[in-house]
Amino acid sequence: MTTRTIPLDFTRTRRLRGSQTMRDLVRETRLSPQDFIYPLFVAHGTGIRQEIESMPGQYHLSLDQLAGEATELKSLSIPAVILFGLPASKDEVGSEGYAPDGIVQQAVRTLKQAAPDLVVITDVCMCEYTSHGHCGVLRVAQDPGAEAQAEVDNDATLPLLVRTALSHADAGADMVAPSDMMDGRVAAIRDGLDEAGYVNTPIMAYAAKQASAFYGPFRVAADSAPQFGDRRSYQMDPGNAREALREIEADIEEGADIVMVKPALPNLDIIARAREAFDHPLAAYNVSGEYAMVKAAAAAGYVDEQRITLEILTGIKRAGADMIITYHAKDAARWLT
Ligand code: PBG
Repeated sequence: MTTRTIPLDFTRTRRLRGSQTMRDLVRETRLSPQDFIYPLFVAHGTGIRQEIESMPGQYHLSLDQLAGEATELKSLSIPAVILFGLPASKDEVGSEGYAPDGIVQQAVRTLKQAAPDLVVITDVCMCEYTSHGHCGVLRVAQDPGAEAQAEVDNDATLPLLVRTALSHADAGADMVAPSDMMDGRVAAIRDGLDEAGYVNTPIMAYAAKQASAFYGPFRVAADSAPQFGDRRSYQMDPGNAREALREIEADIEEGADIVMVKPALPNLDIIARAREAFDHPLAAYNVSGEYAMVKAAAAAGYVDEQRITLEILTGIKRAGADMIITYHAKDAARWLT
């Protein structure tokens, strides 16, 4: 009978997991409140701080609430906000979106006055302001033989997006973020900003933005669901990663300063590939549906909200995002400090 000795030359990875301090020492990805951009929904009126039913813990805020909000964000070391507006009224061409006294324009002025250091980013899109809820203006497409059908007119939308971005810059926005997914809008907005003298106003492009079911809670919050059809003729097909990289490349060529992948969780591969392929700052949008799912599971007691949130945000950062737009920003910042 032969005895066989098993060589014990396996790797003991557990050696570095024995204590919290040891684990902290070898951690590769660290979240910080400085990674976060916090979305705000601003509304007309006074004294409004109304919880959004689809997004527990998020609020519609009137202008008088914004200074307090800015103070809180500063105390949490969160450097930036992105603004979404709830207009007083909607029309076919989304007029309040580019009105000098529109809700977002007023909110920018209020925030910049209250907190000059806060980076105020504005979402540039039409869907919150149009009666039909689409991200651009409509035209009736008449395909021969087909029934007349409205479609979003790419090129007719561009000047209105430029106007929107300019009205935000006029109000003092630090950065504009087009989320409409019209082709050529980054170039058009860059041109418009430069011509108006805003050569130093950066553009954060929602570059790879998919037609996603994860935006459901946001559309309740912003009252921006399309009234007919869907957004698939302008937002991307979630099945396409190579196309996402081409979208990002195109936006960089058109002048984007920061590029974004959205939504974040189903697209960690695209975030990682974009990080490899491009050297521009990369943002990921941890969207409303991702947030709402965590809140629902936590409320039901099935997950530890703190741990699951930090795990998700760490994963997005580890994939390659330099910054994360997230509704969890304030909670996460509290947990991290
Ligand atoms: C506007 C816009 C949307 C989101 C950000 N900007 C909605 C949409 O495209 O329908 C979604 C954000 C979220 O779900 O948190 N176009």
